[in-house]
Amino acid sequence: MRIPYIAGNWKMNMTPSQGAALVKELAKQVKGCNAKVMVAPPFVTIPAVVEAAKGTNIIVAAQNINEHDSGAYTGEVSCEMLMDLGVGNVIIGHSERRIIYKESDELINAKVLKALSHNFDIVLCVGETLEEREAGKLEEVLSRQVNVGLKGVTASQMSAITIAYEPVWAIGTGKTATPEDANKAHAFIRSLVANLYGKKVAEETIIQYGGSVKPSNVKELMACEHIDGALVGGASLKAEQFVPIVRCGVLE
Ligand code: 13P
Repeated sequence: MRIPYIAGNWKMNMTPSQGAALVKELAKQVKGCNAKVMVAPPFVTIPAVVEAAKGTNIIVAAQNINEHDSGAYTGEVSCEMLMDLGVGNVIIGHSERRIIYKESDELINAKVLKALSHNFDIVLCVGETLEEREAGKLEEVLSRQVNVGLKGVTASQMSAITIAYEPVWAIGTGKTATPEDANKAHAFIRSLVANLYGKKVAEETIIQYGGSVKPSNVKELMACEHIDGALVGGASLKAEQFVPIVRCGVLE
């Protein structure tokens, strides 16, 4: 049984006070809901959001971590710093990190292993650009991102890993992959996990879809066999949009 997992990636939005206010509102409205709900604020907003989320069912995650424990890495944040705030969840390998900040699959893998060594739960993002899709490279790109991203991860550690399929061309563009296309990519990702860890682990792995998820399209996406949740950007910044998305993930 894969429990629906709805996550909001706030990206570089929300000051500490705005973030705390949003989480208080979300907490009221998603109380008692049996989907897993997560928000990922910017680093400086995390403490206020952790405080606001106390005693609620909302998980607070970071959007990134450094692959080292500490040292001369100006501008970076370690797992230990997040743990001190009570944070044990992180998004790794978002396409904006891969493309704008040139994070390689190998670096992403180092971050995954570092986060696992501190018992973090991880959302590992994968997804192709439009150019790659049009060149027929979808499966090649996903295979590389999944196989390299998970290198050295054991079968038992996979319970800490959620995979988010985010086609780059659908992020912030208003273009969503059709449910059929998304489901096909998710099924392929699940087959990659099965190749690495066997069928049972693959069946249990949560695979989120991300890319212009909105209240109006979440239902048909979530109805797909291999889509177990959503990683939401823009629509996670307003309670009136994020709450209906979360509600759609509620188990009947
Ligand atoms: P949008 O929902 O704004 O398209 O962003 C998706 C995303 O990148 C979530 O990580």
